Amino acid sequence: MSARTTSLWVALLAATTLLAGCERPPVDSVQRGFRGTGMELVYNPRTEARVAAANQAPLVTPPGDSDAGPKAKDIYKNVPLLGHLGVAEFTRYMAAITEWVSPQEGCNYCHDPANMGEDSKYTKVVARRMIEMTQHVNADWKPHVANTGVTCYTCHRGKAVPLQVWFKAPPQDLKSNFIGDRYGQNAPMQMVGLSSLTYDPYSLYLLGDQTIGIGAATALPTGHVASILHTEQTYGLMMHMSDSLGVNCTYCHNTRNFKTWEGAPPQRTTAWHGIRMARDLNNGYLEPLTKSFPANRLGPLGDVAKVNCATCHQGVYKPLYGAQMAKNYPVLLESASSAAKVADGLPPPMSEPTRSVLYFGVGSSTLEGEQAKGLILLIATLSAKPAAKASISGYHSASGELAANQQLAKDRAVKVRDSIVAAGIAPARVVLDKPLQAEANLSGEEPAARRVEVSVK
Ligand code: HEC
Ligand code: HEC
Ligand code: HEC
Ligand code: HEC
Repeated sequence: MSARTTSLWVALLAATTLLAGCERPPVDSVQRGFRGTGMELVYNPRTEARVAAANQAPLVTPPGDSDAGPKAKDIYKNVPLLGHLGVAEFTRYMAAITEWVSPQEGCNYCHDPANMGEDSKYTKVVARRMIEMTQHVNADWKPHVANTGVTCYTCHRGKAVPLQVWFKAPPQDLKSNFIGDRYGQNAPMQMVGLSSLTYDPYSLYLLGDQTIGIGAATALPTGHVASILHTEQTYGLMMHMSDSLGVNCTYCHNTRNFKTWEGAPPQRTTAWHGIRMARDLNNGYLEPLTKSFPANRLGPLGDVAKVNCATCHQGVYKPLYGAQMAKNYPVLLESASSAAKVADGLPPPMSEPTRSVLYFGVGSSTLEGEQAKGLILLIATLSAKPAAKASISGYHSASGELAANQQLAKDRAVKVRDSIVAAGIAPARVVLDKPLQAEANLSGEEPAARRVEVSVK
């Protein structure tokens, strides 16, 4: 092959590679505003077909009666969020979560099969917080997600790590660089729609709250910051938003004037809330989970994977074309704070080397959540001193029927004894005392009364 043909091949190859980034015509356009205003959306039917195929909602198992049968919290030991469900419904949620997040790996992706109640895998710890995050989105971000809402599938789509997440971009290495700071420019990245704009608008706008805008707000300088850099960063975010939703700028702007809200489509307001929501999820849920994740899940700067518009939208104006999946999973629509109240409402357990005080829910004889950890120091003492004995007293509240209350107090004491014996202490060393009535409380149910005290003698 002569040098000439070689260079021809190289040129051809370069041209094909460059053009591969462009979309092949013909494309369709849809008019969205008055004629002549240029308010048009451009669609490529071939891209559309691919995106549509990837954004179908999975089949749902219809909800059952959430109150039917025994409650999950009476059977399982560590269910602060879903314990109020009947067991059948609880199981339906577990099956759904598995299908949404870890269909290949199955239940054991989050659970140690030998002890389902234990939180030994980080995935379970993260999943519990994710349930709260999903509830928070659905209950508190209605201005964005409306009644459509989200489920785990909206982001996860059958993958443990959602397809679209982001990490902080490493800063430019300036040591061997005499061009100066490029501010991340001219490095075409997907995050700015492959343009040569400054990259990482996510850290600025979806984690930080830098003002979004171009140009100055007033004619004369009044101390505001409005630089070319800020303008480019704003455009970077806008490219990401268009790209994530598979739309043009005209989907949210009347391009007569990008700044003004007047005459802009209502979608711009929804998007405004979306920016705040993404920021809230990243700061309130994902960043605080950083320590829970193993190192191989963290980004180059040691930060956790975070959410942007594409995490939910994945190329479509409404995730999954607005399929209403969430309404079949009512627990995911509950306000996280109300669920937390069910779990909390109790004083923290008292945990000392020779004394533990553990609290129980109304009518419950199960140690839930934090309460189960209140025996750790006491068990350590018993293991270290083979002669020591533990004595357990169950208390019951003064309200309600005496016989039933005494039985409940006894059940609670037995549960605590079982926990101590399960930790390897001989049953003979654990003594049950008679149930005792706690001080009466005029205001009715008193969480502090529903307790078991254990002391080492
Ligand atoms: C993506 C993570 C995840 C997957 C996968 C998962 N679970 Fe769970 N599971 C949880 C979380 C989180 C809890 C605690 C719920 C709460 O806090 O109320 C839990 C609790 C449980 C419990 C209660 C255990 C106890 O004693 O406290 C059972 C039983 C259970 N899951 C069964 C299953 C089964 C069966 C599957 C597979 C079909 C499954 N789980 C798949 C996250 C998961
Ligand atoms: C708004 C988007 C979003 C929603 C909704 C969401 N997640 Fe996540 N999830 C994430 C992101 C982002 C991560 C971090 C990715 C990683 O693991 O590095 C994550 C991580 C996880 C992980 C850890 C996976 C791993 O292998 O590291 C589990 C488990 C999980 N989510 C479960 C759930 C469950 C269960 C639900 C529904 C109750 C849910 N998620 C809802 C965005 C979401
Ligand atoms: C999904 C809706 C959406 C799309 C698509 C979108 N924008 Fe925006 N844009 C917004 C919102 C919302 C704001 C205001 C953000 C804020 O103030 O928090 C905004 C702000 C702006 C601003 C700043 C105006 C000012 O106040 O100075 C410019 C410029 C802009 N967009 C340009 C564009 C361009 C160019 C595109 C196409 C590449 C685009 N936008 C695509 C929603 C959108
Ligand atoms: C937690 C998931 C999630 C994230 C993250 C998210 N969205 Fe949304 N978005 C939704 C859901 C769900 C809807 C559908 C609401 C409805 O049915 O009206 C929606 C609707 C919208 C709409 C209205 C579409 C229409 O035609 O009415 C716009 C615009 C939008 N999102 C923009 C954004 C932008 C911009 C971002 C990033 C800053 C973003 N979204 C991030 C879940 C999300």
